[in-house]
Amino acid sequence: MTVQSDNADPKPSRTRRLGGRRIYEALKAQIGEGLYQPGAAMPSTRALATELGVARSTVTSAYEQLLAEGFLESRQGAPTRVAPLLPVPAEGAGSIRLRSRHRLSAYGERMKMLADWATPAAVGREPVIDFRYGDLSTADFPILLWKRALSAAASHRPDRLTYGRPEGSLRLRTALQGYLWRARGIRCDAEQIIIVSGSQQRLDLCARILLDPADRFVVENPCYQLARQAFAATGAVPVAVSAREDGLDTGLLAHTNARLAYVTPSHQFPLGGVMPVSRRRQLLAWGSATGAYVVEDNYDGEYRRHVSHY
Ligand SMILES: Cc1ncc(COP(=O)(O)O)c(C=O)c1O
Repeated sequence: MTVQSDNADPKPSRTRRLGGRRIYEALKAQIGEGLYQPGAAMPSTRALATELGVARSTVTSAYEQLLAEGFLESRQGAPTRVAPLLPVPAEGAGSIRLRSRHRLSAYGERMKMLADWATPAAVGREPVIDFRYGDLSTADFPILLWKRALSAAASHRPDRLTYGRPEGSLRLRTALQGYLWRARGIRCDAEQIIIVSGSQQRLDLCARILLDPADRFVVENPCYQLARQAFAATGAVPVAVSAREDGLDTGLLAHTNARLAYVTPSHQFPLGGVMPVSRRRQLLAWGSATGAYVVEDNYDGEYRRHVSHY
């Protein structure tokens, strides 16, 4: 939790520093803004008091006030939680909704307009059948190997805990360089590899580095919607080019006047086909001739079919 300190305060800080009232107000605002979700466990009063550098009783009094107003709930022996149904704030002074004249950037407004594909629609009840893809069975994840690798890595104590290179550790990138050569036949320098925290971050990076507002970009139709959104969020305009099972119809690219094409040639999403080499060459030839970027999303290239014999 962060609570602004008041540097302009002329009084000695100890008593004025963070009164229970300010902690109460900050927590109430944060609950209202969804930082603490309904039903979520609150930090213990001891932990929060240590974090804020105040007496535990100061935090306790803020919690008591929030309990009295119905924002928090507590049960003997259980952590204090945010109430599942929050009280409606009174209009005016006590309102917890952020009401301000601040406005989002054009980018922020575009993001708001884009539908939320990642989370299931709020239909008011649990769906009977969940058609979302991408939920993997935990039974298939090599959890023990993962744990072993994590603890082996953690046991190498570095000299200092400091910031690494923004593009990722050179050791990891060099290991990946070798892997890409062995597994995919890709020859590149370690400097050409960037480590990101997930597929959406890499799409967002490509989008912001390669596109300007009003540029046109090609997406396959049908395509992976979260990629389309990452590119559209820049203000660039999507041009849907039909894809068959074996990928994008490259014959249609010439008329798109696009600056970038986002493609899934190794495993078309969602149809599942593989683009033949002749059309991959056409795609690259189009990119070279027009100066357009070709962004390949090889999203499940690591999966190999395991054949079991019974
Ligand atoms: C085309 C495509 N790209 C990226 C992803 C996401 O990959 P990750 O789970 O590695 O973020 C998916 C997930 O289904 C996908 O279909």
